[in-house]
Amino acid sequence: MSKRRFRLYADFATGGAMDSAILKYHLGWHTIVDERIPLQGILPEAFIWYVIRALATALIVLQHGTLGDEAVTDWKPIMHLDIQPANILLDVQNRKRRRSEDDAPGSALEGPSKRRKTDREVIPQLADFGLSFFDLDFSHGPELDENPQDHILPDSDSNTRYAPEHQIFVDENSQRLDEKTDVWGIGRIAWTLIVNRLNQEGPVREGGPLVEGRALPLSQIHDANMEMVQDRYDQEVLVGSDAWPAARRYSEELKTLVRDCLKYFKDNRPSAKEVLRRVDRHLDANPGLREEMADPHGTLLEFPDDGAFEIGDQLIAHRPSG
Ligand SMILES: Nc1ncnc2c1ncn2[C@@H]1O[C@H](COP(=O)(O)OP(=O)(O)OP(=O)(O)O)[C@@H](O)[C@H]1O
Ligand SMILES: [Mg+2]
Repeated sequence: MSKRRFRLYADFATGGAMDSAILKYHLGWHTIVDERIPLQGILPEAFIWYVIRALATALIVLQHGTLGDEAVTDWKPIMHLDIQPANILLDVQNRKRRRSEDDAPGSALEGPSKRRKTDREVIPQLADFGLSFFDLDFSHGPELDENPQDHILPDSDSNTRYAPEHQIFVDENSQRLDEKTDVWGIGRIAWTLIVNRLNQEGPVREGGPLVEGRALPLSQIHDANMEMVQDRYDQEVLVGSDAWPAARRYSEELKTLVRDCLKYFKDNRPSAKEVLRRVDRHLDANPGLREEMADPHGTLLEFPDDGAFEIGDQLIAHRPSG
């Protein structure tokens, strides 16, 4: 890599990364004072289900090489390990055209320039595979197995945004990194969207123990996080306390799923397939959500202004000033 022998080319995602797209909400909610809550908009719940669904789908492909039931021969499950808002790209695409009167040849809406805004949808894409890996075969020398040691991040306050097993190496208590480590990443993204804030330390406990005066990050080594029998997630995670009030505005079904993805011990988290099943079950029971999900104008996200680069449009070049 250091000799730049490898290059990865990706399609350009016109909506930019999720951290910029939700900045407006972050700025609104991180200074919120309680009385203003009713005035403050939130990211639509439908969008959050939609993002969870997209990420669960991506994880299934990384794990199994396919969304189908038939396993791909010799597929090695890939762990992404860096699921965070800056690594989720939002591609604004033309919605797959449906057969309707509007789509008939010669209709007033035919052609790219006449396409209605609502014909567009946001496709979340998992990007930045800089930390990702797959397990090598160490059957000939199990003592050489490098999972998790080789992937553990340096000890730092901001690394609490990663899954517990990814940032802490305690020999007698270490957990391998696997699919569930990335499920924690889905939980982190969804937690961020539910609190409508980009929190550097990652998901935290509300009303629980404080560490140096601040809410305890959910992935930090701490008795409160490692207690398995009574984990108090329903009372301390996404409960909408005064510091994180936006969470009050979302359904318990959504928050329960996200809490499960964020369980300290990875065996208590659902698999990507289970996450997808739970999302689909919820969408089946709430069909209105599906329609609302991917509409970029409904989500009120902020996208980069790249109108000048519209495919097929004339590019007006300006001489640089100065
Ligand atoms: N295909 C793409 N389309 C649109 N924007 C992209 C694309 N790839 C990367 N970006 C933008 O560049 C940023 C950094 O890209 P990426 O996460 O792949 O690299 P990185 O190694 O994390 O770099 P950095 O250290 O600067 O974060 C993304 O957060 C996004 O804003
Ligand atoms: Mg990145």
